[in-house]
Amino acid sequence: MKNALILLASLIGAAATGCATGPTSIPDASSAGARLYVSKCGACHSLPHPKRNSYREWQHLLELMQQRMAEQKMPALTGEEKEVLLGYLQRHAR
Ligand code: HEC
Repeated sequence: MKNALILLASLIGAAATGCATGPTSIPDASSAGARLYVSKCGACHSLPHPKRNSYREWQHLLELMQQRMAEQKMPALTGEEKEVLLGYLQRHAR
Protein backbone atom coordinates (compact mmCIF):
# COMPACT_ATOMS: atom_id res chain seq x y z
CA MET A 1 0.00 0.00 0.00
CA LYS A 2 2.73 2.39 0.95
CA ASN A 3 4.56 1.54 -2.26
CA ALA A 4 1.46 2.24 -4.29
CA LEU A 5 1.23 5.68 -2.74
CA ILE A 6 4.85 6.42 -3.52
CA LEU A 7 4.32 5.25 -7.08
CA LEU A 8 1.27 7.45 -7.40
CA ALA A 9 3.12 10.45 -6.00
CA SER A 10 5.99 10.00 -8.42
CA LEU A 11 3.59 9.63 -11.32
CA ILE A 12 1.88 12.86 -10.38
CA GLY A 13 5.27 14.51 -9.97
CA ALA A 14 6.36 13.32 -13.40
CA ALA A 15 3.15 14.55 -14.97
CA ALA A 16 3.49 17.95 -13.32
CA THR A 17 7.10 18.50 -14.34
CA GLY A 18 6.37 17.06 -17.76
CA CYS A 19 3.83 19.79 -18.16
CA ALA A 20 6.21 22.55 -17.10
CA THR A 21 9.24 21.53 -19.11
CA GLY A 22 7.82 19.28 -21.82
CA PRO A 23 7.66 20.45 -25.40
CA THR A 24 4.96 23.00 -26.11
CA SER A 25 3.11 21.72 -29.12
CA ILE A 26 4.17 24.01 -31.90
CA PRO A 27 3.04 24.11 -35.53
CA ASP A 28 4.87 22.10 -38.19
CA ALA A 29 6.87 20.44 -35.40
CA SER A 30 8.95 18.15 -37.61
CA SER A 31 10.25 20.94 -39.88
CA ALA A 32 13.88 22.06 -39.68
CA GLY A 33 12.73 25.49 -38.48
CA ALA A 34 10.69 24.04 -35.65
CA ARG A 35 13.51 21.75 -34.54
CA LEU A 36 15.97 24.63 -34.48
CA TYR A 37 13.43 26.71 -32.62
CA VAL A 38 13.04 24.02 -29.96
CA SER A 39 16.79 23.61 -29.52
CA LYS A 40 17.66 27.33 -29.45
CA CYS A 41 14.66 28.89 -27.78
CA GLY A 42 13.65 26.36 -25.15
CA ALA A 43 16.97 26.40 -23.29
CA CYS A 44 16.28 29.15 -20.73
CA HIS A 45 12.49 29.18 -20.51
CA SER A 46 9.58 27.17 -21.80
CA LEU A 47 9.14 27.45 -25.52
CA PRO A 48 6.94 30.39 -26.48
CA HIS A 49 4.26 29.55 -29.03
CA PRO A 50 4.90 31.30 -32.39
CA LYS A 51 1.35 32.70 -32.29
CA ARG A 52 2.25 34.57 -29.14
CA ASN A 53 3.68 37.46 -31.16
CA SER A 54 3.51 39.16 -34.53
CA TYR A 55 6.43 38.78 -36.91
CA ARG A 56 7.58 42.33 -36.16
CA GLU A 57 7.66 41.52 -32.46
CA TRP A 58 9.61 38.34 -33.18
CA GLN A 59 12.22 40.28 -35.12
CA HIS A 60 12.72 42.50 -32.08
CA LEU A 61 12.62 39.60 -29.61
CA LEU A 62 15.20 37.65 -31.56
CA GLU A 63 17.64 40.55 -31.16
CA LEU A 64 16.90 40.70 -27.45
CA MET A 65 17.30 36.94 -27.04
CA GLN A 66 20.64 37.05 -28.79
CA GLN A 67 21.79 39.46 -26.10
CA ARG A 68 20.52 37.05 -23.44
CA MET A 69 22.45 34.22 -25.10
CA ALA A 70 25.62 36.33 -25.19
CA GLU A 71 25.21 37.16 -21.49
CA GLN A 72 25.03 33.42 -20.76
CA LYS A 73 28.10 32.80 -22.93
CA MET A 74 26.04 30.67 -25.26
CA PRO A 75 27.20 30.44 -28.87
CA ALA A 76 25.71 33.19 -31.01
CA LEU A 77 23.18 32.28 -33.69
CA THR A 78 24.74 32.09 -37.14
CA GLY A 79 23.25 34.16 -39.96
CA GLU A 80 21.73 31.00 -41.38
CA GLU A 81 20.18 29.97 -38.07
CA LYS A 82 18.64 33.42 -37.73
CA GLU A 83 17.14 33.14 -41.21
CA VAL A 84 15.70 29.70 -40.49
CA LEU A 85 14.26 30.85 -37.15
CA LEU A 86 12.77 34.03 -38.57
CA GLY A 87 11.38 32.12 -41.54
CA TYR A 88 9.70 29.66 -39.21
CA LEU A 89 8.33 32.42 -36.96
CA GLN A 90 7.09 34.41 -39.95
CA ARG A 91 5.11 31.41 -41.23
CA HIS A 92 3.46 30.80 -37.89
CA ALA A 93 3.34 34.22 -36.20
CA ARG A 94 0.10 35.82 -35.10
C1 HEC B 1 20.20 32.59 -22.63
C2 HEC B 1 18.86 32.30 -22.21
C3 HEC B 1 17.75 32.51 -23.24
C4 HEC B 1 17.63 31.92 -24.46
C5 HEC B 1 18.55 30.91 -25.13
C6 HEC B 1 16.40 32.44 -25.02
N1 HEC B 1 15.79 33.27 -24.15
FE1 HEC B 1 13.98 34.15 -24.36
N2 HEC B 1 14.15 35.02 -22.54
C7 HEC B 1 15.25 34.95 -21.73
C8 HEC B 1 15.06 35.81 -20.56
C9 HEC B 1 16.05 36.01 -19.43
C10 HEC B 1 13.78 36.38 -20.71
C11 HEC B 1 13.07 37.37 -19.74
C12 HEC B 1 12.89 38.73 -20.39
C13 HEC B 1 14.20 39.45 -20.55
O1 HEC B 1 14.92 39.67 -19.57
O2 HEC B 1 14.54 39.80 -21.68
C14 HEC B 1 13.23 35.86 -21.95
C15 HEC B 1 11.98 36.16 -22.43
C16 HEC B 1 11.46 35.73 -23.64
C17 HEC B 1 10.16 36.06 -24.15
C18 HEC B 1 9.11 36.91 -23.43
C19 HEC B 1 9.50 38.36 -23.71
C20 HEC B 1 8.37 39.33 -23.55
O3 HEC B 1 8.57 40.30 -22.80
O4 HEC B 1 7.33 39.17 -24.20
C21 HEC B 1 10.04 35.49 -25.38
C22 HEC B 1 8.84 35.54 -26.31
C23 HEC B 1 11.29 34.82 -25.65
N3 HEC B 1 12.11 34.96 -24.57
C24 HEC B 1 11.58 34.15 -26.82
C25 HEC B 1 12.79 33.51 -27.09
C26 HEC B 1 13.15 32.97 -28.39
C27 HEC B 1 12.29 33.04 -29.65
C28 HEC B 1 14.37 32.39 -28.25
C29 HEC B 1 15.22 31.72 -29.32
C30 HEC B 1 15.72 32.58 -30.35
C31 HEC B 1 14.78 32.59 -26.85
N4 HEC B 1 13.80 33.28 -26.20
C32 HEC B 1 15.95 32.11 -26.29
C33 HEC B 1 16.35 34.15 -21.92
C34 HEC B 1 16.59 33.37 -23.05
